Amino acid sequence: MEHTLQDTDFLVSQTDAKGKILFANEDFCKIAGYTLEELMGQPHSIVRHPDMPKAAFKDLWDTVKSGKVWKGYVKNATKNGGFYWVFATVYPNIACG
Ligand SMILES: Cc1cc2nc3c(=O)[nH]c(=O)nc-3n(C[C@H](O)[C@H](O)[C@H](O)COP(=O)(O)O)c2cc1C
Repeated sequence: MEHTLQDTDFLVSQTDAKGKILFANEDFCKIAGYTLEELMGQPHSIVRHPDMPKAAFKDLWDTVKSGKVWKGYVKNATKNGGFYWVFATVYPNIACG
């Protein structure tokens, strides 16, 4: 079943350079249906929906690895077998060092 996001929903996640989840905010956990403990350390593909083409993620990674910002619609899967759409903005690592 589709979960439609509200205007106030703001999903944030952070990964390492390999796509392993380092952080997810409360809205992300709530909508994806996981606790933060369940998400931490997992590959971000934990929310991957099979309808998403591989090419979208190749483009995402190529873009971010070249230091640019990637934007696009992503259909994600929830833990309980549902799905939700996000308009994702993926930033390259902006931390110091
Ligand atoms: C910051 C960040 C956010 C990401 N968000 C998602 C996401 O919401 N859904 C998703 O399926 N993949 C997301 N990805 C891409 C995944 O890391 C992964 O490439 C994708 O799920 C495809 O899985 P695969 O690489 O194992 O084929 C994100 C990657 C990064 C770096």
